[in-house]
Amino acid sequence: MNSYSRISVGIAGATGYAGLELMRRLVRHPHAEIRHAMASSASESRRLPALARIWDAPVEPLDAERLAGTDAVFLALPDALAAEIAPALAARGTRVFDLSGAFRLRDRALRQRWYPHSPSDLVSVAYGLTERRRLELTAAKLIACPGCYPTAAVLALQPLVEASLLEPGVIIDAKSGISGAGKTPTERTHFSECHGSVAAYGVFAHRHAAEIEQELGMPVTFVPHLVPIDRGIFETIYARLRPEADGAAVEAALTRAYSSSPFVRLTGADLPEIKHVVHTNFCDIGWRVDHRGGQLVMAVCIDNLVKGAAGQAIQNFNVAFGFDETTALN
Ligand SMILES: NC(=O)c1ccc[n+]([C@@H]2O[C@H](COP(=O)([O-])OP(=O)(O)OC[C@H]3O[C@@H](n4cnc5c(N)ncnc54)[C@H](OP(=O)(O)O)[C@@H]3O)[C@@H](O)[C@H]2O)c1
Repeated sequence: MNSYSRISVGIAGATGYAGLELMRRLVRHPHAEIRHAMASSASESRRLPALARIWDAPVEPLDAERLAGTDAVFLALPDALAAEIAPALAARGTRVFDLSGAFRLRDRALRQRWYPHSPSDLVSVAYGLTERRRLELTAAKLIACPGCYPTAAVLALQPLVEASLLEPGVIIDAKSGISGAGKTPTERTHFSECHGSVAAYGVFAHRHAAEIEQELGMPVTFVPHLVPIDRGIFETIYARLRPEADGAAVEAALTRAYSSSPFVRLTGADLPEIKHVVHTNFCDIGWRVDHRGGQLVMAVCIDNLVKGAAGQAIQNFNVAFGFDETTALN
């Protein structure tokens, strides 16, 4: 732990799905003191029934100037808004933990394509996939927390790519609960549209593919689906192993990567399921190898609102400020 006794914290977007998750966990963080909970649409302060007896102070209208007076700010806002206010907050010395996609892509052209409101030049941004970037988090002023789909895919695949175990042609078949799209219903996410159905969307046109490819340094085929559950992500990953690689090499690479990571659970041949991880910060990774053909199948699960959003942001906060990584997350 460092010299701070309590870190003053602001949460912007406190009325959204990710923001509510941040509120519930940060109120019981022993080293954080929530100074501001803010949201947008109301011009007046309001109280949220979901936060009664958890946070009884009002949620205020968004005010970036007041957020700048805190040690750390969590932005759980639409991308364009995060793009607008995060750089100024970071420049004034507030540590920014941004849950949006505005600062995740390092390539300027890709950023312009997928997040057109983001600044063309990025200064001192760390990509906050905690398990893979711990050392960068302590110095960064602005931490871009990863997307929910990329969190699961990159945690599973990056150790295997780094160990040169995979042939090109990785396929990520991903399913998400409806809360991945935020609290405002659309024609696709409306209850009567998605209940009792499963649909693929964003095929060859989803911005998380660019993020996954950035982190893996190789092209992937990424196909997301909406499934009629409220939360959770399940990814089935198909990859060919290089001729010299086998199941033991896969296990060794993953074990080496995550032996000191409290929130990554390697389940081996016992493939995980969403019910094992909902409301937790765990990422469960299981795999099987067909020895006849060197075909690897992985199954990866997270809760999109916890490890895929608020939980990972708090994990990054803990590492950035020198607290135990699991604080307020168990
Ligand atoms: N949902 C997920 O699984 C997930 C996972 C990873 C990352 N993320 C990212 O996290 C961010 C929040 O996602 P979410 O799912 O929590 O969204 P959400 O449920 O739609 O909530 C959005 C929040 O932003 C506020 N907001 C919207 N427009 C605003 C404006 N013009 N000015 C100020 N505040 C405004 C809303 O406040 P009001 O209530 O006042 O409108 C609400 O608090 C997004 O960037 C999203 O991409 C989400």
